[in-house]
Amino acid sequence: MKVPLLDLKAQYASIRDDVRRAVDEVMESQYFILGPKVEELEKQVAAYSDVTHAVGVSSGTDALLAALMAADVQPGDEVITSPFTFFSTAGVIARLGARPVFVDIDPVTYNIDPGKIEAAATPRTKALIPVHLFGQSADMDPIMDTARKHNLIVIEDAAQSIGAEYKGKKAGSIGHIGIFSFFPSKNLGGFGDGGMVVTQDDALHEKLRMLRVHGSKPKYYHKIVGGNFRLDALQAAILLVKLKHLDAWSKKRRENAAAYDAKFAASGLPESGHISTPVPVYKASGDTNHHIYNQYTIRTTDPGHRDTLRAFLGESGIGTEIYYPLPLHLQECFRDLGYKKGDFPISEEAAASVLSLPIYPELTEEQQDYIVQKIVEFFKTQGNGDNS
Ligand SMILES: Cc1ncc(COP(=O)(O)O)c(C=O)c1O
Repeated sequence: MKVPLLDLKAQYASIRDDVRRAVDEVMESQYFILGPKVEELEKQVAAYSDVTHAVGVSSGTDALLAALMAADVQPGDEVITSPFTFFSTAGVIARLGARPVFVDIDPVTYNIDPGKIEAAATPRTKALIPVHLFGQSADMDPIMDTARKHNLIVIEDAAQSIGAEYKGKKAGSIGHIGIFSFFPSKNLGGFGDGGMVVTQDDALHEKLRMLRVHGSKPKYYHKIVGGNFRLDALQAAILLVKLKHLDAWSKKRRENAAAYDAKFAASGLPESGHISTPVPVYKASGDTNHHIYNQYTIRTTDPGHRDTLRAFLGESGIGTEIYYPLPLHLQECFRDLGYKKGDFPISEEAAASVLSLPIYPELTEEQQDYIVQKIVEFFKTQGNGDNS
């Protein structure tokens, strides 16, 4: 049996006619940059995320960059974030000449540990980027308390978490600015790159709209220096089709996660200390989106098992991925920041032991059974419960 990490073809097959119709409409209009489709998507994403404003941009990375520019982050400023995230969260800070300041994560959620932020704040700290990793929100209440105390702008990196909820609030709606990515592997993925910045603040919204078009208003009159951060009409048209299915797809991911939890529990692997499964911390009553499972990430208790397990699953036709193998404080490009191994032990341990399994909505029960069976088989060959 073959189980890819993500099966985009299965999803496309279920919406093919609607997507083709939407693409045709844009082709016939020959209106490719921004325009009515982008405006409609902005309206719908704003409503979906319980915010007043949304600005469609060219990628999640550009959404973060525009957000930091809107927050007026300057060379020499410091921006606090997590070292256990995709590169772009910190890359955009460095691109503006500012300094990424890392704070270690919570070992259960993999999100920034709010209790450690205070110690990293200095008079130069301008902003704070909590990342809602794998589809689950960071612990926003204490994060916002610390931000208020130090007068920091909070930019939620919800690239992986559109629709996730924190205590009944939508990811991206809690801080001053939120960002989403429409990279194809996200729960709401386009047919190429795309992203969105959301905010409740009128002034930030106005600035973001200008930044997206080289800082101009009106056209050819540049008040500030921005960039070409525009979203294509084709992407917006496709995303409008897909947005209608987003809640159903995220629900299916949650069901798949619950099925994995039950199958792993029945296998005895977590109990015998071989692996741990994800923990949705912000449980809500009813079927709400506390966790949208962009990833279902297990951990091997013995980090020495992770890579051999991954290789074994690969040989068995099962796609997996390591998000992320090297924390950002240890990346070559950030050597000048002066961090060293051991500075953020929880992130380093996570990087050595996490493994993301297929969780896409179209995953079948048969495929899940096969994955769990292969993981059980792997640990049997490791010597009956001996995980030393
Ligand atoms: C946490 C996080 N931040 C930012 C990004 C950047 O988004 P994009 O790939 O759309 O530029 C991603 C997506 O890959 C991400 O996972």
